[in-house]
Amino acid sequence: MDDERTDRTEPVQDGGPRRRISRKNVLKAAVAAVPLPMLLGGVALARDTKPSDGLLTPTPYCDDGDHPTPPQMEGPYFKPNSPLRDSLIQPGTQGTRLTVSGFVFGLTCQPLANVLLDWWQADVNGAYDNVGFRFRGHQFTDQRGAFKLTTIVPGLYPGRTRHLHVKVQAPNQPILTTQLYFPGEPRNNTDPIFDPALLMNVRQNGSAKEASFDFVLRVRGGTTPTPTGKPTEPPGGTWSAGTDYRAGDQVTYDGAPYACLQPHTARAGWEPPAVPALWRRT
Ligand SMILES: [Fe+2]
Repeated sequence: MDDERTDRTEPVQDGGPRRRISRKNVLKAAVAAVPLPMLLGGVALARDTKPSDGLLTPTPYCDDGDHPTPPQMEGPYFKPNSPLRDSLIQPGTQGTRLTVSGFVFGLTCQPLANVLLDWWQADVNGAYDNVGFRFRGHQFTDQRGAFKLTTIVPGLYPGRTRHLHVKVQAPNQPILTTQLYFPGEPRNNTDPIFDPALLMNVRQNGSAKEASFDFVLRVRGGTTPTPTGKPTEPPGGTWSAGTDYRAGDQVTYDGAPYACLQPHTARAGWEPPAVPALWRRT
């Protein structure tokens, strides 16, 4: 039985005082207390205010002095080298379909492009795949700072409420490791690491569920635009922006050797020393 009870004994990474109350937190705390049937179709999402021309306002969720998304413990089931993909659904996948969409913002509410989101979760039976990569995958925010993951509602397992794991990292910035939660879950009241600030908005759409969450990272300023153009050299050799690297590729950067941990296209700002999620010094 996969079980994450070790989660409950590890120190919370944050360590600091809880964030001060903001309008967003009040909303999410209220969501936590509302029974699920009342939630469905009843929660206002940031993107509900999106104008008809499809363009978002620059700071749709950051008009009240928002705070960084709190970190949570990684737990025992993270694995590097997850596949690059926007959907964790595979042929034969069982479980209630779920989409998780949102934006990643910096401290000044600017949307962040090219942010890495590395997801992992339990399957419908509450088990993690520790051999392969079922229900594991990474993706990047687009130029609007938006992401969308297609997956299933994770199953429950002993000791924890229902949750998703994710690592979020803007180029050249530290990794935020955290977890996202579902409103209306009975175990939210008993899971000691549950944090209402990490509740997603969830609504029903037919037989599927649509969840929304916006991350706020401790990042000031924007992220480097994605370079366009073809790779300048094959994998290996000296690290080079624009090159498609595979897990296991070896490069040198500034005279030091590095091994690629996850397939990705190298970008300015993602130099190996700056992105430990992608490169390990060898
Ligand atoms: Fe977990």
